[in-house]
This record gives sequence, C-alpha cells and structure tokens, in this order.
Amino acid sequence: MAAAAPRTSLLPSSIALLLLALALSALVPSSDAYDSLDPTGNITIKWDVRQWTDDGYVATVSLYNHQQYRHIQAPGWKLGWVWAEKEMIWKMTGAQTTEQGDCSRFKAEAHCCRTDPEVVDLLPGAPYNKQTSNCCKGGVLSSWGQDPANAIATFEVRVGQAGTSRSSIKAPTNFTLMAPGPGYTCGPAKKVERTKFIDGDARRTIQALETWNVTCTYSQFVAGRTPTCCVELSSFYNSTIVECNTCSCGCQDNSTSPVSCVKANSPYLASVVNGDSTNIPAPLVQCTSHMCPIRVHWHVKANYKEYWRVKITATNLNYRMNYSQWNLVAQHPNFANLTTIFSFKYKDLNPYGIINDTGMMWGIKYYNDLLMTADRNGNVQSELLFRKDPETFTFQKGWAFPRRVYFNGENCVMPPPDVYPWLPNASHQLSASLTIPFITVWTALAFLLVHV
Ligand SMILES: *[C@@H]1O[C@H](CO)[C@@H](O)[C@H](O)[C@H]1NC(C)=O
Ligand SMILES: *[C@@H]1O[C@H](CO)[C@@H](O)[C@H](O)[C@H]1NC(C)=O
Ligand SMILES: *[C@@H]1O[C@H](CO)[C@@H](O)[C@H](O)[C@H]1NC(C)=O
Ligand SMILES: *[C@@H]1O[C@H](CO)[C@@H](O)[C@H](O)[C@H]1NC(C)=O
Ligand SMILES: *[C@@H]1O[C@H](CO)[C@@H](O)[C@H](O)[C@H]1NC(C)=O
Ligand SMILES: *[C@@H]1O[C@H](CO)[C@@H](O)[C@H](O)[C@H]1NC(C)=O
Ligand SMILES: *[C@@H]1O[C@H](CO)[C@@H](O)[C@H](O)[C@H]1NC(C)=O
Ligand SMILES: *[C@@H]1O[C@H](CO)[C@@H](O)[C@H](O)[C@H]1NC(C)=O
Ligand SMILES: *[C@@H]1O[C@H](CO)[C@@H](O)[C@H](O)[C@H]1NC(C)=O
Repeated sequence: MAAAAPRTSLLPSSIALLLLALALSALVPSSDAYDSLDPTGNITIKWDVRQWTDDGYVATVSLYNHQQYRHIQAPGWKLGWVWAEKEMIWKMTGAQTTEQGDCSRFKAEAHCCRTDPEVVDLLPGAPYNKQTSNCCKGGVLSSWGQDPANAIATFEVRVGQAGTSRSSIKAPTNFTLMAPGPGYTCGPAKKVERTKFIDGDARRTIQALETWNVTCTYSQFVAGRTPTCCVELSSFYNSTIVECNTCSCGCQDNSTSPVSCVKANSPYLASVVNGDSTNIPAPLVQCTSHMCPIRVHWHVKANYKEYWRVKITATNLNYRMNYSQWNLVAQHPNFANLTTIFSFKYKDLNPYGIINDTGMMWGIKYYNDLLMTADRNGNVQSELLFRKDPETFTFQKGWAFPRRVYFNGENCVMPPPDVYPWLPNASHQLSASLTIPFITVWTALAFLLVHV
C-alpha cells in the first residue's frame, strides 16, 4: 500500500476513490453464499406459465432443493415475491398465501390481492381438491443428497390482471425464501428455456408458454445465527477428552431461571429470543460450558493392522426440538477409503470430482432418523471403519480427527488443533502394541452386522 500511495495521488481523486472502493469490496465478506463442500447448492424456484386465461395466466411453481445436505424442517418454507404490475391471485392449489389482503375491488372471490404475497405449503391431509403432486408436506423439503424424491415442492397459481400475451406478462420480482428463518438470498427471475411437461399417458410432451428460474442460496452469515453445534474429540491412545470450546454457541449464566440457560445480558440471548419470530422454537439447551443444542463426538476407537475405527455420536442437548431427517457431514482425508459404516446411511460428497474426502451421513428410516430431545436422552451413533492408506495414515498431529463437521448444514465449532489429544511419546511402538489381532476385527464386525 505504502509504495502505491504516491502513484495513486497522481490520479484524479474520483478514480482513486473508485480503486479504494474496489479494494475494500474485495475484503468485505460477500453475502453470497459459498459452501466449498456443496459449491452448487441452491434452491431453484421454477415458474412455468402453462396457460393463458381471460385476464392473466395459470402457472405451475416448483421449488427444487438442489442442496446436498441442507433441508428445510418444520414449520417449513415461506416464499414471498412482489408483483411487477397489478397482478393478483384468483386461485391457488397445493399451497396458500398467508394473507388475503384487500380484495374489495373484485366482484368474484379472490385468493390474494396483496402486491407482495407470501406463500406457505399446505399441511398433510389437505382436502383432495386443493392438492397438487409434491404438495402438502407442511413446507418440509428434504435435501437432494438425502431424499431427492422429497426435495421438490409444487403449487399452482391462477394469476389475474397480467395481460394475456407473451410480450405483456412480467415475472414477479424480489423473491424471498424463509426456511423458516432468514438465510437465503434470491436472485432475479431469469427467462430460461421453456419446460417440457409429460402429458397424460406419457406419449406426448407439452411445453410451458414461458419459464422463469430464480436461484436462492444459503449463507450462515445472512442467517445471522450463532453456531448450533460443536465437536468433541477423544481417542483410545490418550485419556484426555477434548471437550467443546467454552461458549461455542453461547455462554452459561449462573443466575438465570432454569427456563433458559443463556446469560441475560449476553449478546447471544437476543439471537435466541429473536429465533422465535422465525417460528423455529428457540432452543432451550441443557446447561453446558458450550451451550450448543447439538454436540458431535468423534472418538478414535481402535487401531488394527490395516484398518482403524472411529465412533461418531451426535447428541441432542435441546429440550425443544426433535431433529427429524437429521444429517451429518464430515471431512477427513480417509473417507476416500471408507470400508464400512454401521447404522447410518452414507453418501460420498465429491464436489470437485477428484478427492472424495467428504461424506454425508443420516439416519435409517424408523430406526434412528429421529434425533430425540435432550430429556429423552436423544443421541444417534455409528462406527466407521477406514482402510489405512499407508501413504497418508498416521495418528500424529491430530490427523485422525475430522477437518470439518456439519450438522444439518450448519458448521460445527471445532476445538483448536493445539489441544487435540496427543499420541504418547513412545508412539513408534503404537503400531505394534495397540494393534488388535485381525481376527478380533472380524468377530466384532460380525457381531455389529447382526445387531444393526
Ligand atoms: C443450482 O443448482 C443446480 C443443481 O445443482 C446447478 O446445476 C446450478 O448451476 C445451480 N445454480 C447456481 C446459480 O449455482
Ligand atoms: C425490490 O428490490 C429492489 C432491489 O433490491 C429494491 O430497490 C426495491 O425497493 C424492492 N421493492 C420492493 C417493493 O420491495
Ligand atoms: C431452471 O430450473 C430447473 C429446476 O431446477 C432446472 O431443471 C433447469 O435446468 C433450470 N434452467 C436453467 C436454464 O438453469
Ligand atoms: C455461579 O456463581 C457463583 C458466584 O456468583 C460462583 O461461585 C460459581 O462458581 C458459579 N457457578 C458456575 C457454574 O459458573
Ligand atoms: C419428540 O418426539 C416424541 C415422539 O415422537 C414426541 O412425543 C415429543 O412430543 C416430541 N417433542 C417435541 C419437542 O417435538
Ligand atoms: C471416490 O470417488 C470415486 C470416483 O467418484 C469412486 O469411484 C470411489 O468409489 C469413491 N471412493 C469411495 C470410498 O467411495
Ligand atoms: C485409498 O483411496 C485412494 C483414493 O481413492 C486410493 O488411491 C488408494 O489406493 C486407497 N488406498 C487403499 C489402501 O485402499
Ligand atoms: C494427551 O493429550 C493432551 C492434549 O490434549 C496432552 O496434554 C497430554 O499430555 C496427552 N497425554 C499423553 C499421555 O500423552
Ligand atoms: C513428550 O516429549 C516431549 C519432547 O519431545 C516432552 O516435552 C514431553 O514432556 C513428553 N511428554 C510425555 C508425556 O512424556
């Protein structure tokens, strides 16, 4: 900077200011979401104009959750937009607006006359004539990685007063997506290639009259949320348990009533209380030094000649939330050689196509896909068996611990690397003294397989 200063001063001041602004904008974190483990993750809203009407059109609107591991939990998504002109909604199926607004200027019954409608999904069991395919899940949307069949929501809308020719209709503007709280930022509607639909008996395709796509991306920064998860580490070779960082998700207060375990005057309280407006119940967590609703424990459990074993446990410390369809993402170089995983479903996340050092795990339906509240001792666990890659494998320098852990798409706070459990000094003896005969492995494996 110092060297550049004299030269900058020769420039007209407006250019100098522009350069400064550019330099600064590069430093400020952009609100655009970018998650290196799911670089193309987004929710796309597709707006297909299907049919002209006397005063407008009928459209099919679909939400596609293209994110690998971020799903939308109850009480579900809310989609808002601002009409470009004087549009209104005559009728909606598969969803409804939260407010009708003032429809007194219409003689017939109208569904919504607001300039900025907000739409929610219908609840399961909605009347049959109000349903569409992919509707009525109370706004719950699975992630693409976990359950692509349930990652789509669709509703139909009959729009009035919108002109009746292709040249005179305009896409809605200012899309907002609450899921259920803030976190998503939506771009403008873009005209794209018109969708082809399969008609009736699947021997004919029909085409939308017009299609617009809107892309919404998530950012933990925009969500303004404090962390909700932390990581605890331990190993068979050192009795130290490295607990979650103190105050990872908030600070404990001694003097508050037992209703909440959060300090009355701490900056974290506001975010917890504000959480209410998003309709997700504010977490009421068990008092711990880290105050996180979720704790993930990674235990390096055993060392065999050609394999090593990790036990992973996620514990719910929140009294107000059952986490249904929970998922965990972990990054560790040895995921490329994962041999067996017990009691969880697993999918490789291979965002760059070459190194698969990241895996996604979730519960087996009706077995452990529901992570119960703290008072029900909610926890889920699994064991992972990795094949050692002699090139890289070591217990030194915390190599056996994960690089990154996400719970439900939220980054979990890791302890600082300098406190990771150490290998005892006589580590060169480890491979001999701590290796369990191979036969024991297979006995243990057989036992686990029978009991899963
Ligand atoms: C949105 O996700 C889809 C599917 O992963 C991807 O093809 C598309 O490029 C993404 N769009 C953006 C703007 O990231
Ligand atoms: C829509 O978004 C634009 C740009 O972000 C903003 O200038 C405008 O005020 C918004 N309009 C409404 C009605 O919210
Ligand atoms: C529009 O979105 C849909 C659904 O995500 C996708 O299949 C389609 O490829 C998108 N079109 C463009 C041009 O991005
Ligand atoms: C609670 O506060 C008292 C005094 O204010 C202190 O002695 C005690 O150590 C505190 N307990 C915890 C768990 O912070
Ligand atoms: C959690 O799930 C159990 C069993 O389905 C239910 O009884 C309980 O009320 C749920 N708790 C909350 C907070 O939703
Ligand atoms: C890693 O990715 C490659 C290519 O995508 C795949 O063939 C291989 O099976 C993956 N490894 C594991 C352990 O799943
Ligand atoms: C581990 O995985 C990597 C990448 O897939 C592969 O090159 C290597 O041969 C594997 N090692 C073992 C011991 O399977
Ligand atoms: C275990 O690891 C801790 C660091 O977390 C270290 O202070 C301690 O000395 C280690 N114990 C042994 C026996 O090496
Ligand atoms: C391990 O070795 C380091 C020096 O290499 C020494 O400072 C430390 O005290 C030793 N720890 C134990 C538990 O013997």
